[in-house]
Amino acid sequence: MDSLKVTPWEVSGELNEGAYKKLVEKFGVDIINDILLNRIKKAAHGKLHPFLYRGIFFAHRDLGAILDDYEKGKPFYLYTGRGPSGKMHLGHLLPFTFTKWLQDTFDVHLVIQITDDEKYLVKKSDKKEIEKMAEENVLDILSLGFDREKTHIIKDFDSAKSLYYYATDVAKHTTLSTVKAVFGITDSDNIGKAFFPSMQIVPSFIIPAITGKKIRCLIPYAIDQDPYFRVSRDVLPKLGYYKPSSIISKFLPALQGNTAKMSSSSPESAIFLDDDEKTVKRKLMKYAFSGGRDTLEEQRKYGANPDIDFSFNVYSFLESDQEKIEKVYGEYKSGSMLSGEMKAIAADKINGFLSDLRKNREAVKDYVQDYAFDPERLRL
Ligand code: TRP
Repeated sequence: MDSLKVTPWEVSGELNEGAYKKLVEKFGVDIINDILLNRIKKAAHGKLHPFLYRGIFFAHRDLGAILDDYEKGKPFYLYTGRGPSGKMHLGHLLPFTFTKWLQDTFDVHLVIQITDDEKYLVKKSDKKEIEKMAEENVLDILSLGFDREKTHIIKDFDSAKSLYYYATDVAKHTTLSTVKAVFGITDSDNIGKAFFPSMQIVPSFIIPAITGKKIRCLIPYAIDQDPYFRVSRDVLPKLGYYKPSSIISKFLPALQGNTAKMSSSSPESAIFLDDDEKTVKRKLMKYAFSGGRDTLEEQRKYGANPDIDFSFNVYSFLESDQEKIEKVYGEYKSGSMLSGEMKAIAADKINGFLSDLRKNREAVKDYVQDYAFDPERLRL
């Protein structure tokens, strides 16, 4: 059975290791191997984000070019984004912790695009609702504490003037047959869907376009977004810019298993940012997929498989102390720690993270405007 479907607008089918292998081949991306990992580690002053050493960000395009530039002291910038949605959950926010790590580590500018237009053209029809979601999502993302001087939020509807000017350059060099092939657009789709990819491609060259400085762009994204950046890589050289580089992730596991992605359509499968402490604990205890054994005896004797355990995974993504992570890993794997204890540790970690987030969120409300995209702030 081959029901795997991964496009920017639809993800379905079982996302196991085999599926990712297929996608890598189909999309033609490169795996992040140990040599590259060591290079990143060296550039990052000896540290790696858990998403890197745990293989969540597992593939790339031209990451070497970014590292070459960085090693030579040449700046680059980061670009990532989000299609606005209702309440955000952990699976939505965690990728942004990785982007923040990249920004902090390399001290670079970051553009975050909020594709309210895409949401309108592809999924929802209530613009007011989309705008509300976009606002809330921006607060959630910014409560991670992004650099105020160097972070630029592009809401497509708000920043249309800057974006549209450059989007026409992309559109002029992209044929309808390309978008049909790459995005699966058909003759019965609305014409906005065919144009939209130009809007998502613009931020991959907006800093060089506006400043006139030839610098590279590194884009962290989940693998379903790859089609946009394949097209970007074809078009940008024609416009006189570098092809963008990518660092590409798998989807984060849902609560109940390690193959589906966290989904807001089944509320019990995800931990929402506004879940209170009790709810977090209850969801973990009741629904979190466990790598532990069925009985206490077996667990003591054979130990757990932490790699497939939801609680261990989330804990490891939020804990910055690698030694602690290794200790928990060892204890859980050996059987000296039980599944319930693992869940309790994870619940504490998640609750601490969420409570910090909520505090920051209140503060950010006062200066969220400082992050708004403004060409004047891009003078590097
Ligand atoms: N299309 C993405 C989504 O629906 C949002 C997005 C825009 C994005 N630009 C991006 C995601 C760059 C990753 C990188 O979520």
